[in-house]
Amino acid sequence: MDVRFPNIARFLLALYFCLSASVLCAAEVNVYSARKENLIKPLLLQFQELTGTSVNLITGKADTLLQRIISEGQHSPADILITIDAGRLHRALQANILLPVDTPALRNSVPQQYRDPDGNWFGLSLRARPIMYASDRVNPADLSTYENLSLPGWQGKICTRSSDNIYNQSMVASMLAHHGKEYTLAWTRGLVSNFARPPQGGDRDQIRAVAAGQCDVAIANSYYLGKMLASKDSAQREAAQKVGIFWPNQDDRGVHVNISGGAVIRTSKNRAAAVALLEFLVSDAAQQWYAETNFEYPVKPGVRSSEMLTRWGQFKADSLNLYLLGELNSDAVMVMDHARWK
Ligand SMILES: [Fe+2]
Repeated sequence: MDVRFPNIARFLLALYFCLSASVLCAAEVNVYSARKENLIKPLLLQFQELTGTSVNLITGKADTLLQRIISEGQHSPADILITIDAGRLHRALQANILLPVDTPALRNSVPQQYRDPDGNWFGLSLRARPIMYASDRVNPADLSTYENLSLPGWQGKICTRSSDNIYNQSMVASMLAHHGKEYTLAWTRGLVSNFARPPQGGDRDQIRAVAAGQCDVAIANSYYLGKMLASKDSAQREAAQKVGIFWPNQDDRGVHVNISGGAVIRTSKNRAAAVALLEFLVSDAAQQWYAETNFEYPVKPGVRSSEMLTRWGQFKADSLNLYLLGELNSDAVMVMDHARWK
């Protein structure tokens, strides 16, 4: 899908991005991205076309890219790191490779809870991790909160992926932030004792397992269900059609959410262009593109989301400051280990 701008808007946007970053619009910017190429390249090409800044893209696994920037040291060509999960952005911060930035456009577009308090990283898209359920076996009225999933009534009915996955680590970190260590350990133990099978596979596999009757509910990121529903593969579509989304904790803290985000690298030689690119990625058109292409939510308030997301209904998101997910990551890993979450 293309990002569409009317011609005058194109010109004004180009002018804005060039002037606001005081950058000669003939610079270049090097992006290291843990997002797959098809989930970032169309936006980068659009930025290149608007500003004349040439964008070089290197994609790879999140931890590998982080290690690469660390080992390249001050000679690293990286200007921007784009990666998934506030927990990972925090790892980059701890590795001392990020440069804090602060501009009105970034501050006004990205709500406070979706960016680092010191400007080291900014959320670019929002992802929700709700409860998914078998439409034919589960009455959504029996679902309520993440907390409730640790009760004995759900024994043998829950699927989710392993504890080495950062999505679950961040979810447990959010539990720690809200309830403290003692409660979270008891909750995690209860949840693990309700697993239908040892954790295996990714989020899509949990949705497939619900459809196949191996478990009644799963905890998974909602965009995976969107991708399956929009898949060319009829088996994926049919599996996804058997699964409903339930937005938990609507009477209290809200659904657990996380972000994909971007950060300027401390050793960047193209800082102004890097900042201009970050600003572009939180512009309305770019924000809407995420919602339509990857079934994620815009971080920027007021941006229209896609048709599928609208059909899933609005939900209250947890308002926790997401940098806490990074700060509490090692505690979360420890809790999951104690609870024997494989
Ligand atoms: Fe994912």
